[in-house]
Amino acid sequence: MTVFDDHVALIRAGDPIDVVARALLALLTPEERLGCLDGDLEFWSGLASMLGGDSGRVPWSGAAIPRLGVPGIQFSDGPRGVKLGAATCFPVAMARGATWDTDLEERVGRAIGEELRAQGGNLFGGVCVNLLRHPKWGRAQETYGEDPSHVGEMGAALARGASGHVMACVKHFALNSMENARFKVDVSADERTLHEVYLPQFRQVIEAGADVVMSAYNSVNGAWCGENRTLLTDILRDEWGFGGIVISDWIAGLRDPVASVKAGLDIEMPFRQQRARALPGALADGRLNWSDVDDAAARILATQLRHYARLTTPTPPISVVASEEHRALAREAAEKAIVLLRNEPVGPEPALPLDPARLNRLAVVGRLAARPNTGDHGSSDVHPPHVVTPLDGLRAALPEVTIDFEDGSDQEAVRRVVLGADAAIVVVGLTARDEGEYISIGGDPAIQALFPPRPAETEGAALARRAAVAGGQPNVSMGGDRARLGLSERDVELIETVSTVHARTIVVVMGGSAITMEGWRERVPAIVYLCYPGMEGGHALARVLLGAVNPSGHLPFAIPVDEAHLAEFDAEATAVRYDLWHGQWKLDRDGHAPAYPFGFGLSYTTFSLKAISGRRNGRVIELRAELTNTGLVAGATVAQAYAGLPGSRFERPQRRLVTFSRADLRPGERREIEMKIPMERLAVRDSGNWLVEPGDYVFTLAQYAGDPDGESLRLHIDV
Ligand code: BGC
Repeated sequence: MTVFDDHVALIRAGDPIDVVARALLALLTPEERLGCLDGDLEFWSGLASMLGGDSGRVPWSGAAIPRLGVPGIQFSDGPRGVKLGAATCFPVAMARGATWDTDLEERVGRAIGEELRAQGGNLFGGVCVNLLRHPKWGRAQETYGEDPSHVGEMGAALARGASGHVMACVKHFALNSMENARFKVDVSADERTLHEVYLPQFRQVIEAGADVVMSAYNSVNGAWCGENRTLLTDILRDEWGFGGIVISDWIAGLRDPVASVKAGLDIEMPFRQQRARALPGALADGRLNWSDVDDAAARILATQLRHYARLTTPTPPISVVASEEHRALAREAAEKAIVLLRNEPVGPEPALPLDPARLNRLAVVGRLAARPNTGDHGSSDVHPPHVVTPLDGLRAALPEVTIDFEDGSDQEAVRRVVLGADAAIVVVGLTARDEGEYISIGGDPAIQALFPPRPAETEGAALARRAAVAGGQPNVSMGGDRARLGLSERDVELIETVSTVHARTIVVVMGGSAITMEGWRERVPAIVYLCYPGMEGGHALARVLLGAVNPSGHLPFAIPVDEAHLAEFDAEATAVRYDLWHGQWKLDRDGHAPAYPFGFGLSYTTFSLKAISGRRNGRVIELRAELTNTGLVAGATVAQAYAGLPGSRFERPQRRLVTFSRADLRPGERREIEMKIPMERLAVRDSGNWLVEPGDYVFTLAQYAGDPDGESLRLHIDV
């Protein structure tokens, strides 16, 4: 039993956490109290190992006090799994966003929590709920979509699931929706934009139990997020009541160490970097008080105590890592994530599903068909024991069928295999080279200025040398924001070649968010959006294409016909203004029909959704609807409820998603569903207050935004 364990026992026995945390704090030396406020590794040696390839392969440690058994935070990234060891690689968060399945997401969170805990971590850093403001954002794949309510529900489910085993960290607070400029851009936003669009998802995840918040790199309304008092204290703690730990993003997450403490940032991550040098002097000359340090240290201790006191299960065995059960879950998630965008007849029947009994020869074309493509190679990378590619999945599912593969580099060979096939599957899209995290430290003098002096020759210059590339400073770069919204010319050409030769051309698109498809989408009978489907993705794809699984994914973003219809995106901006308008809301406002709307997804069956009634019950709106599977096979759809207030005195989206519910139905099955909408989802932010404007609200039940078969109910709401 350590001293820390004794204090956990006090909480279990019913003592108040804050009192116990202060008692533990009183046992720390001043050095240990200050040591809580940053990461545990020294900067240059830490950076050397980070750049030496083991970045994030062991947990990042902060605020640990071995003398007293205080574990500190043992952080590991996500969201598509655990970065440690050979862990289960789930579909990326954006793919899971397409499932609209919060129960599934909670199970994914639990599996990730188990795998992390089994490997010695205690903090899952993969609950990313930055809104997809524009599909060119390099890290789009790490979030769930463009809609605040949907992203909030999914993130909350992940955090809930993980919290049974580890603490959950929600990131990046806030307004971090562009990549290349993340270290320099100032994002300005007015109160309504902040509170109604870009912050509510964070609040939802915190209310679901997230213990840790990571601040963003960018600045918001002129103050760097890591030292932004409005965000970290006024909103997060005072308004929302967050009682956990705030940590910085890595290395460049703060610029003024003293201001960052005063603003409410608890731990500078991941190294002893700026604070270790600056805080002792600031405490000596009175720019910082010990009470500021102790407030942060008390929160850091209290959060750990709370977490360990609520752990009820033993540490899972290492065998949970990439266990059969977790791989099955990864496959289930991938199956539910696949979005069927188009399925036109070829002859008398729709192009999909393919009937295995009628297949002799199948052509599979495109380099991505035979390549593990699980997403970004930045902080969210996961290293699974194997990856099932689309080609692997099809071969495993069709052992009797001859499958010819061509990577697409030889057009003649492509034509040849396609000509002799019963159907042609073309896999196209993006990889980690086209989009992902962008790390470029070496080129930025403003960030180099945040490094401690390089160690002298005698003190380990070898370490600094290992860490130093590109002109003597660390510099790594990859991924980044996307250069284009459509497919590459090579991919488009491949689709043209194949679709000219074969009527049954099925295009499978990989990539982290919306990809425009004009020019080719109407030339092919079937389009499937696969996103980055994780280690079992190939099996999932095969099962959907062959009809063993009925597709049920729905787009968590709109796909426009033209990039010009979206919000502006300047990857190199130093200043940008966010407003209420992006994605489907902007398309609706401007009268631009999308190629595929937010919430859209086809099935091998059909559903009808009828509105029955709506009423207000206290602070909740209750809608009842009848959902029927009107087709011949079992399937699932997502009932989506949108709300609008025609004639509102506030500028607001025509309709905004307020809740959703995914349901599986047998053929012919009819089911009544009830949807509950918290009144807050209708509120606007008006001079520091939330206001539910009185009026006649229109609630539309539909299977996607703008669905002509949607049914509306009018409800008068007086406050
Ligand atoms: C990313 C964070 C990540 C951290 C640690 C940063 O560059 O922005 O999302 O958690 O690295 O890997």
